Amino acid sequence: MELSANAQALAYLVSAILFIFALKGLTHPSSARRGNFLGMIGMAIAIVATLAGKEVQSYGFIIAGVVAGALIGGVLAARVQMTAMPQLVAALHSFVGMAAVLVAIGTFLNHRAAGTLNPVLMGELSAGIVIGAITFTGSVVAFGKLQGLISGAPARFAGQHALNAVIGVLTVALAVHFAMTGSMTSLVVMTLLAFLIGLTLIIPIGGADMPVIISMLNSYSGWAAAATGFTLHNNLLIIVGALVGFSGAILSFIMCRAMNRSILNVVFGGFGSDSGGEQSAGAVAADKGVNSASVEDAIYWMEDANRVIIIPGYGMAVAQAQHALKEMMELLEERNVEVKFAIHPVAGRMPGHMNVLLAEADIPYDHVLEMDEINPEFASTDVALVVGANDVVNPAAKSDSSSPIYGMPILEAGKARHVYFLKRSMRPGYAGVDNLLFYQDNVSLIFGDAKDTIEGMVVALKGGGH
Ligand code: TAP
Repeated sequence: MELSANAQALAYLVSAILFIFALKGLTHPSSARRGNFLGMIGMAIAIVATLAGKEVQSYGFIIAGVVAGALIGGVLAARVQMTAMPQLVAALHSFVGMAAVLVAIGTFLNHRAAGTLNPVLMGELSAGIVIGAITFTGSVVAFGKLQGLISGAPARFAGQHALNAVIGVLTVALAVHFAMTGSMTSLVVMTLLAFLIGLTLIIPIGGADMPVIISMLNSYSGWAAAATGFTLHNNLLIIVGALVGFSGAILSFIMCRAMNRSILNVVFGGFGSDSGGEQSAGAVAADKGVNSASVEDAIYWMEDANRVIIIPGYGMAVAQAQHALKEMMELLEERNVEVKFAIHPVAGRMPGHMNVLLAEADIPYDHVLEMDEINPEFASTDVALVVGANDVVNPAAKSDSSSPIYGMPILEAGKARHVYFLKRSMRPGYAGVDNLLFYQDNVSLIFGDAKDTIEGMVVALKGGGH
């Protein structure tokens, strides 16, 4: 069956509308599933309409590519840990970038053979190649940093920005030369330089800023796809590319605002480090003058509390403690304790990370509050239970102007009457900085894996506590 151009345009229009509704759905956890579903239907329609178009001349390579891609993608998606999702996204962006480069080069060679090259087309090709190549190497570096294959610390050297500027100017000059002359040499050197920019742009950026960078690269991959859409005269690709381009840019902006940083500060600031260091929990805690407590101590205050606020963080995801938390929430509610969950916009390792995990455990959405809604409630809260979170409650963000997280808005857990931290050691969080809250009188640390500790709390609550 071959679709007429009109039927294909109509199918593309339906897909584009579905993608817009998909994005709308993804703006809230309660509608995210529906949004995803609409996006999948939109993509299915787009693929069928494209394959049935008259420009497809044979299906052999296409089917082989689809089968190989679906197999690799399916296995990766099924096996990936939720905490490793950012690097998977980075890897996928690198494919989009490389696809844009290859499609543009292929289109150039076809038009050159047919003698139909023109400066407008070559301008579009240059844009696709440059953005695609930057997206490719940038995403590969982001993947390497997040996967721990290369150091997450910012790699900086003197003259870095000047070097980037020189490479950038050279690349643009070559792009203009290529568009005017169709010179193969300009094309090749421009492509290589654009690959290099992706590398030199992302290498200096610290691990803590990677989520913003990934979202920025997501935006670039959208623009690369849009440029490809222009070269292939494919309206849907232009629309989808623009949607991805803008939504990635808006998400980067939202994340920067959540950390009180500008995008320029993220790109040129060099922030964050490999956290680590071999410290053993209890001994170091005592040395540093922090209180450590037991499950029973916490339950003593929690079971008679009016309100308990739970602050989940990256450690909850690592421990997979969300189901145990749900059980604990129900046991506390049976005792008429009000239980709420406080979500910081950058808790965890990707936007919405905590919301997804809490939703997976069927924790009702009305129990889950965003930072601005919940912060005024801490002062009248009996117990704040910090489950594997660290940076997002660190008051150094407010009081220590030398701290790398200075200026980031935080969850004001320290204002609760009692604060219990569930973590395994005294190691810092992602930003690699000590948490000043540990040293406050009303704060105690309960060392251990968060899931084990919460399960201990569930057992204590079932046993009637004290
Ligand atoms: P972090 O500050 O990274 O702290 C997580 C804490 O969880 C660690 O201190 C760790 O302490 C503890 N932990 C790890 N595994 C655990 C386990 N099995 N059981 C109990 N505790 C465990 O996390 P956060 O407060 O969620 O803050 C997020 C940070 O990541 C911010 O700095 C943010 O900028 C950055 N970031 C955010 C994103 C997005 S978009 N959400 C993406 C990348 C980075 P122990 O090792 O002592 O257990």
